[in-house]
Amino acid sequence: MGFYCDHIFPHLMDWVMARPVFSHLREALLRSASGEVLEIGFGTGLNLSHYPTTITCLSIVDPAILLPAKVSRRMAAVPFPIQTNHVTAETLPFPDGQFETVVSTWTLCTIPNPVLALQEVRRVLKPEGRLLFLEHGRSKDQKITVWQDRLNPIQNVIGCGCNLNRQIDQMISQSGLTITHLDRFSMHGVPRFAGEMYQGAAVAQH
Ligand SMILES: C[S@@+](CC[C@H](N)C(=O)[O-])C[C@H]1O[C@@H](n2cnc3c(N)ncnc32)[C@H](O)[C@@H]1O
Repeated sequence: MGFYCDHIFPHLMDWVMARPVFSHLREALLRSASGEVLEIGFGTGLNLSHYPTTITCLSIVDPAILLPAKVSRRMAAVPFPIQTNHVTAETLPFPDGQFETVVSTWTLCTIPNPVLALQEVRRVLKPEGRLLFLEHGRSKDQKITVWQDRLNPIQNVIGCGCNLNRQIDQMISQSGLTITHLDRFSMHGVPRFAGEMYQGAAVAQH
């Protein structure tokens, strides 16, 4: 990780991704989360305040411990129990079919082996369960993908492993999940190379 990724990047990430333009998208995605929920790539807990208060329990997975004091305050402000796991999404420590909902927001860009992580998501989802995803990735516009490919090595360094050019829908399908809903759009106020969005849901279909 190193000093920058451990101590500087988490503050930058939290500051940028707490902006209203991000919060509105989190809110819209998470309002349909239900039951026992797993969030992969939890980060600094920016989704917490957007979960319906009716969810049964939230399990979170992230190999990193980011801004622990701020995260503790955010955790204390929600009414549902939270179970923390400092592991990777590629090796989920849960039995098959445990979760009604799995959530991934701005995370599939960074996970080193996203297809393996999504296979794990599929395994831990109940047969009727859903993955809710909100991710940035590869554009449909070739003028943008050229820049995404050019800038990716730099983004990898300044974004601590983040990739600009991953084809999110393809990775989800490759894992065996079935996409039931997909919206593609460009985020307002974010440069297009970093703001080409994939928002939707996928089911496990065991
Ligand atoms: C850009 S941040 C997004 C944080 C959060 N999901 C959000 O929406 O604000 C990406 C997160 O993925 C986490 N991450 C990196 N590798 C991972 C892995 N193999 N499994 C799970 N999470 C991982 C990082 O530690 C980081 O917290």
